[in-house]
Amino acid sequence: MAASLSTVEQGKRLAARAAVDQFVKDGMVIGIGSGSTVVYVAERVAERVRDEHLSLRCVATSYQAKQLIHQHHLTLLELDQVDMIDVTIDGADEILTSTLDVIKGGGGCMTQEKIVAAASRCLVIVADHRKRSERLNTQFGYVPVEVVPMAAPRLAALLNSNAHPRLSRPEADGGLPHVASATLRMAKAKAGPCVTDTANFIVDIDFGGISDPAAVEQRLTLEPGVVTVGLFIGMADHAFIGEEDGSVTTLHRRASST
Ligand code: A5P
Repeated sequence: MAASLSTVEQGKRLAARAAVDQFVKDGMVIGIGSGSTVVYVAERVAERVRDEHLSLRCVATSYQAKQLIHQHHLTLLELDQVDMIDVTIDGADEILTSTLDVIKGGGGCMTQEKIVAAASRCLVIVADHRKRSERLNTQFGYVPVEVVPMAAPRLAALLNSNAHPRLSRPEADGGLPHVASATLRMAKAKAGPCVTDTANFIVDIDFGGISDPAAVEQRLTLEPGVVTVGLFIGMADHAFIGEEDGSVTTLHRRASST
């Protein structure tokens, strides 16, 4: 089956399998991420449970993750049934290779993904080579931001016109970088906006490149109605990247010097 996969799919699969093989151990509670790469994570976890008789319990980051857990006959726990998740393996839309800060939420699942990541001893990102970046929001076209429905269209309109009363100030004065576009994400095969697993809307904000992702996350988080910014800063510990030549590169977040 693997031989017929495209180079990108093969990269996702190899990265996912390498991460599961290195980080998943018997007796662990595992966070299962969301997206197309995590499909291969669930597949490999299930293989190892079957072949090595591992005893694992899984926490889902989305409805899709729950479906994967059920599909592979893995044991599902709710987050409030565990003290700590040993390791969460999740995908990303863009990975800043120097810090392992990432953009997430291309699949709209960032709120539960961030909650599960924060409850994990270790967050491992799995991705194909296209996700690698030297400056966030230059490879992936936007930062997904989950917003309470009442606030979302207005926030998008204000950001789009670069006329937001606070966020349009100069960056040095607490504002955001210039916004190239802010778009209310629309659903596919359903009329109207995309509704998340946590019943909110998504505003996709394109800055055309972000120099200070932590500042952008903090500023947007202060905005009333914003639930989750799809910037995961200082959360990922390791990243497995499936390369075009069939190898897997492993990156590690550098320990803070403070
Ligand atoms: C889901 O909301 C996202 O954060 C995904 O983890 C991310 O979009 C990566 O998805 P793929 O593995 O499909 O690229």
